[in-house]
Amino acid sequence: MENFEALVLFCLACIGVFSTNSAIAAAAASPPAIFILGDSTVDVGTNNFLPGSNARADFPRNGVDFPYSRPTGRFSNGFNSADQLAVLMGHRRSPDTFFLLRKEPRGFTKPKFRGVNFASGGSGILDLTGQTPVKGSLPISRKNVIPLSEQIHQLSHVYDKIISVRKQKGTRDIFSKSLFFISIGGNDLFTHYHSKSKQPKEKFIASLVQAYEKHLRNLLKLGARKFGIATVAPIGCCPSQRLFNRTLGCLEELNDLALAFHPRVTQLMYKLSSEYHDMKFSIGNAFLMTINVINHPNRFGFKDGGGACCGQGALNAQAPCTPTASLCPIRDDYLFWDLFHPTQKAAQLAAVTLYSGPPFFVAPINFKQLAEA
Ligand SMILES: *[C@@H]1O[C@H](CO)[C@@H](O)[C@H](O)[C@H]1NC(C)=O
Repeated sequence: MENFEALVLFCLACIGVFSTNSAIAAAAASPPAIFILGDSTVDVGTNNFLPGSNARADFPRNGVDFPYSRPTGRFSNGFNSADQLAVLMGHRRSPDTFFLLRKEPRGFTKPKFRGVNFASGGSGILDLTGQTPVKGSLPISRKNVIPLSEQIHQLSHVYDKIISVRKQKGTRDIFSKSLFFISIGGNDLFTHYHSKSKQPKEKFIASLVQAYEKHLRNLLKLGARKFGIATVAPIGCCPSQRLFNRTLGCLEELNDLALAFHPRVTQLMYKLSSEYHDMKFSIGNAFLMTINVINHPNRFGFKDGGGACCGQGALNAQAPCTPTASLCPIRDDYLFWDLFHPTQKAAQLAAVTLYSGPPFFVAPINFKQLAEA
């Protein structure tokens, strides 16, 4: 009899353990979906689908540290910030690109839907940013990048696909609980700076943020409610821009644009959230996060915070990273992978800061709190 009781207890314990485990498994199996919009900092291969685009990275030595050393279109030696953030949220890596999922029969409607990545390297908040200028009166024959407006248009296509299966309520539910991670603006600032425009800095930033507002309102109309925003890093310090400085220091005027962008975006997010009371947001100050590492690379385990790991010439920044470029042996020693982009290690540092960093870097809440909110 005693044995029987022990057996029963043991089995109850089994059930207890089993159900706890399965609850954990269920939670881990279904982190909220992520929709990723933006530029090359979070692109996982969108531009591979644009024949003739010159903003592509689907060739070696890109991806040298990716599983099987596969060049996927990521502007990185391995995983970028979108991947790293997705991993922190319980995904395997970033969701696939819109173009790839669109080719799958149930790409947007399968039960294990993880989200979509729309980000396109070279793109911006402004529609013209990153597009190849069209000469003469020829119709646009090649598309270089997918601007943010079109990324959002693609999202509305996803919305329609989901609604055909899950109906209005199910779709609204997915959109309101998903994280919308947006990393964009750098290319607009590059373009403005190098166009030698006479428009004063404040005026340009105001018009850029106004365009951003229009895009965010379109996302809100589609039912997005959780926004994780990364503003612009000190792009004047990337190797390609240091070449414009005789001492190979950072290009301060370009950094000033990035510095001015952040508080205006913050203002905008507070304004939008005062209109949409169920909206939640988190803004990562990419400038502060990154300048800290650039100024003190050693503290973060880097040996080189100014030059590129893959490229050619001064700072390895006089040519892009191609199959024949020179490649540094230890990628983790470098903050920059190529003339514009961070290494996998630097991207991971950024993602961890966005996900669990203090309010000094990410406010009013971090991405972890946003995902759980
Ligand atoms: C070039 O770099 C130096 C050293 O960091 C800095 O003092 C100077 O302002 C920079 N020049 C420009 C044009 O940004």
